[in-house]
Amino acid sequence: MKPRQIVPNVHLIGAVDWDRRLFDALIPLPDGTSYNCYFVTGSEKNAIIDTTDPARSHTLMAQLDELPAPDYLVINHVEQDHSGCTPQLLQRFPEMTIVCNEKARAMLIDHLHVDDARFQVVADGDTLSLGDKTLTFLFTPWVHWPETMSTWLEEDKILFSCDFFGSHYATNDVFADKHEVYDGAKRYYAEIMMPFGGQVLKNIEKVTKYPIKFIGPSHGPVYDDPGFIIEAYKDWAGGEPQNIVCLPFVSMHESTLRMVDHLTAALTDRGVAVERFDLTTLDAGELASSLVHAGTIVLGTPTVLTGPHPLAAYAAFLANALKPRTRWATVIGSYGWAGKTVETLSGMMTKLKCDFLAPVMVKGMPRAADYAALDALADTIAENHKELAPRNFAVLTVCDTDF
Ligand code: FEO
Repeated sequence: MKPRQIVPNVHLIGAVDWDRRLFDALIPLPDGTSYNCYFVTGSEKNAIIDTTDPARSHTLMAQLDELPAPDYLVINHVEQDHSGCTPQLLQRFPEMTIVCNEKARAMLIDHLHVDDARFQVVADGDTLSLGDKTLTFLFTPWVHWPETMSTWLEEDKILFSCDFFGSHYATNDVFADKHEVYDGAKRYYAEIMMPFGGQVLKNIEKVTKYPIKFIGPSHGPVYDDPGFIIEAYKDWAGGEPQNIVCLPFVSMHESTLRMVDHLTAALTDRGVAVERFDLTTLDAGELASSLVHAGTIVLGTPTVLTGPHPLAAYAAFLANALKPRTRWATVIGSYGWAGKTVETLSGMMTKLKCDFLAPVMVKGMPRAADYAALDALADTIAENHKELAPRNFAVLTVCDTDF
């Protein structure tokens, strides 16, 4: 694919990875992804902003055959899906200088063994003139790593934001269709950005001081309607938890499944939305997306070898790592003779700032008294959720708003 123009003398380059199905050996990619980089042609100097994953270096190298030689390579973020072709580019363009911040410089040396003589280190707010185009470097830490920054192109009002505002979504379209990209962008936020929600909000405040016309992320399409993704991010990072129970579960002999079915119905009868996930076929991105707005997490698990089923332990570990703003959590499930399932799972979720509700653990197959306990749990959750925002299908409200 040839370089694709965003505005005159600014091109989207990089690779669309239609077939990649797993990222970081962890994150499912149902819609593939892209590794975007950008080429800015100035009247005096030229710059590449970010590179591609090294597995797609051939695509980037072929595109650069059609563009003038770059004087600068701006590295916004060192994770290798964006910096991985740096050594090849340095070899191909021996006069080219890497422009990045100090933290990124140290990381590039550690991760890619880049020659220390090739760097121009910038501070927050520094500018770099390319002649008729000016780049300003805005430090936006923790979206996704501590060194992450965004690059602002003053004359064309483009924010090159790297992972920030990205989506794992393969498309040949340069510009985002907001209805099409919303789910992928939310999944991406949930998987990558949610643990840093506070930093996300601070960084939004920082970059929106600039009159942004386009956002060029390093995954997914470019936003020519940036208000849409900015408002969506504010909702995901700062919106109130909603009247939703996130219910990941696993069942071995149906005792836990019967409890999950009963609780799902009891919550529904009380007006509480339930998003349930069978952990044996889990797409971790769907679970992460649910956690963005869930008011309560209920983990359903049998007891295996005195503790939770390993799949339930995985869900607890994931929730703890993603740090959603969930307000309550609990465990339901079945055991054969004894165990420490509840203690183990609650001990795995210590980063969650939530209250733990009384669990419902049942010996063997649930009986009438156990179903009554589940009804009582549903009563408690419904009462708690009265103080939450109603479930909001933000895809409709955000996408249908004009900015
Ligand atoms: Fe797309 Fe943090 O890398």
